[in-house]
Amino acid sequence: MSPRWGWSRRERGAAPTGDVDLTTAVGSVTLPNPVLAASGTAGHADELGAYVALDRLGAVVVKSLASEPWPGNPAPRVRETHGGMLNSVGLQGPGIEAWLGRDLGRLLASGARVVVSVWGRTVADFESVARRLADGLPAATGPGAVVAIEVNVSCPNVEDRRRMFAHSPTATAEAVAAVGAGCPMLPRWAKLSPNVADLVEVAGAAYGAGAEGVTLVNTLLGLAVDVEHRRIALGSGPAGGGLSGPAVLPVAVRSVFDVRAAYPDGGIVGVGGVSDVADALQLVMAGADAVAVGTATLRDPRATERLVDGLARWCRAEGVRSLDELRGVVHG
Ligand SMILES: Cc1cc2nc3c(=O)[nH]c(=O)nc-3n(C[C@H](O)[C@H](O)[C@H](O)COP(=O)(O)O)c2cc1C
Repeated sequence: MSPRWGWSRRERGAAPTGDVDLTTAVGSVTLPNPVLAASGTAGHADELGAYVALDRLGAVVVKSLASEPWPGNPAPRVRETHGGMLNSVGLQGPGIEAWLGRDLGRLLASGARVVVSVWGRTVADFESVARRLADGLPAATGPGAVVAIEVNVSCPNVEDRRRMFAHSPTATAEAVAAVGAGCPMLPRWAKLSPNVADLVEVAGAAYGAGAEGVTLVNTLLGLAVDVEHRRIALGSGPAGGGLSGPAVLPVAVRSVFDVRAAYPDGGIVGVGGVSDVADALQLVMAGADAVAVGTATLRDPRATERLVDGLARWCRAEGVRSLDELRGVVHG
């Protein structure tokens, strides 16, 4: 496991962001700081609230929801790897209506800014889940608020030989447009896969279909063999799992850098392998407007809030008054 996994002594402990302005915007969505809880690693409701003041995070992205309940994959679903983990949870979820009735209220009561991640197996599924979300959004949401939809296109398209939507610019654009048709009142971000030949082209298709932001990146496709039992290690079998954690940070930085170079004004959320302040700053300096933390939360449930405090402390120590001074600096 990487020695950089976890938190240095310097980053521990709470401190208000105070004089440092960590405000950021992803498209039209303004957030008090750039630290997000990544989809799938912070539960469906306010589970993380036992460890973190959810209203102190930039936003909480909930685990991806489909229009109907979905069972996910058989166990085992997770496996530790060098520098990270493989998961094959398989988008298990209660379905959007159960989530709206049971979980959203608790999340909003925590004061969180909520990003609702949605997925589907067809373009019509994407429109359906978005429409149900639009129909079920509570009128008065305070103190929290639903601020955006994340369109998780890193899932199999049953109308295209189960190829991921995210592997095709056309299918990505269709899914993003379908969500816009179903729920026109919320800004859309597209969660893209790094397993593509030309990520910039897919990001361009997402922006072209109306996404205000792209979330870069979802897990990398992986497979592990259980040598002792001479079989595939995860219950998903040959489908394998998604690699996440510190090992994927350079892939996320590369992705953010390339998309920022091509789209100077597009919203970008960087995600992949962030464990500490320096990791988050790599993504910001490569061009991310915000940074989501996934696997690090599974190791340390307080990782997100510690990152908020650590970023403020780093900026103060470096004489940086605003995140704007850092975003995309490596592009010159
Ligand atoms: C257990 C687990 C479940 C995940 N579930 C989802 C999901 O439902 N939707 C999604 O868009 N991404 C999901 N992801 C991907 C993360 O949001 C993130 O993109 C990825 O793990 C890389 O970030 P990290 O290295 O910080 O974990 C999941 C990741 C993990 C580890």
